[in-house]
Amino acid sequence: MKDDFPFFDSRADEPGVVYLDNAATTQKPRCVLEALHNFYCHTNANVHRGAHRTSRLATEAHEAARSYVSQFLHAFSEKEILFTSGCTEGINLAAQVLALSGRVREGDEIIISTDAHHSNIVPWQMLCERVGAMLRVVPLTADLSFDTSAYTDMLSERTRVVAVPVVSNALGVRLPVEEITRLAKEVGALVLIDGAQAVAHEAVDVQGLGCDFFAFSGHKIYGPTGTGVLWGREDLLESLPPWKGGGEMISEVTFARTTYNKLPFKYEAGTPNICGDIVLAEALRYVQRVGLPAIHNHEKDLMHQLVTGLLDLPGVQVLGGENQQHSSLVSIHIPEVHHYDLGTLLDQMNVAVRTGHHCCQPLMQSLGITGTTRYSVAIYNTAEDICRALSATRQAINMLR
Ligand SMILES: Cc1ncc(COP(=O)(O)O)c(C=O)c1O
Repeated sequence: MKDDFPFFDSRADEPGVVYLDNAATTQKPRCVLEALHNFYCHTNANVHRGAHRTSRLATEAHEAARSYVSQFLHAFSEKEILFTSGCTEGINLAAQVLALSGRVREGDEIIISTDAHHSNIVPWQMLCERVGAMLRVVPLTADLSFDTSAYTDMLSERTRVVAVPVVSNALGVRLPVEEITRLAKEVGALVLIDGAQAVAHEAVDVQGLGCDFFAFSGHKIYGPTGTGVLWGREDLLESLPPWKGGGEMISEVTFARTTYNKLPFKYEAGTPNICGDIVLAEALRYVQRVGLPAIHNHEKDLMHQLVTGLLDLPGVQVLGGENQQHSSLVSIHIPEVHHYDLGTLLDQMNVAVRTGHHCCQPLMQSLGITGTTRYSVAIYNTAEDICRALSATRQAINMLR
């Protein structure tokens, strides 16, 4: 699989980097890089507005990309696929249009989880400040799982929105999003699922899940940076106002008033990231060709090897313990070793991991630590990568103690 990724060839003069920072961003397969090159060589034109052939080709390719994303997520319609610059923008879009629409008001409550990424905290805090609503945070259990019982107690007729990740990017814990959604629906709340750490690792079925919004970033699923998708239920999107004004999102503009375009264009003001969106669909096709069940099984074996190996290292705390084998990432904490020192030494041994708070400062505060060292796997990692990472970690810890 590594052969599909030129990033690894370019290091042919070195023993080869062990890239375990996939939760931050993934490397890109050759087909994605070729699609990017081909677009700018052969199909580059603005969409929707041109009478000429290349503009028509670009428009068709852009809409075909939308249609592919729609199938990938099992959406009801491609009108539900809003191209964004990433997961962060998708969540901000949802939060802002809910505020603008008056669907969240003073005294209402929004529920998030302790292990949320800042991008699934701050947009809701901003919404709460704007309308006078209250942010409620579901605690973690002792084994760092989502506390479903505390969540159930928190739900009430005041709950307007529940926004949770499928997988926590700092802990690797998978949240019971199916049950979280079902319980939220019993009180009539809207549900936003942050799929940033899930889409590259497990199949998504937004209709089966029953949520209202689902956001992810393209660059974490082998696609380009600056791309992403917010899926929203069609009837809900129809009822909500636009958020950014400009070209393409309009139906008719006069100086007196503007009427808005139909879905999905109502939410896509200005020239979209035409090439990026088309190439994102190419990345999703690549993932489907390899097959999510095959990816899942491969990553499960790697995670088993990684987590058991880390648990064997003296003094290493694996956050969430053996639970972590069920996602694609794991975080460790070593009381007398600073995560940054460990990450720096691992880098010197050609092992790339991420250290720090992982954009989860409130989680780190609740754990009483400043950060962790995070290892995250992807399609191209091998058992040998994990052996090298474990041996480098052992060596680095011995040097730092
Ligand atoms: C769980 C989760 N949500 C949201 C994001 C934000 O993604 P982006 O920075 O690509 O918008 C990330 C990025 O690490 C993440 O891991």
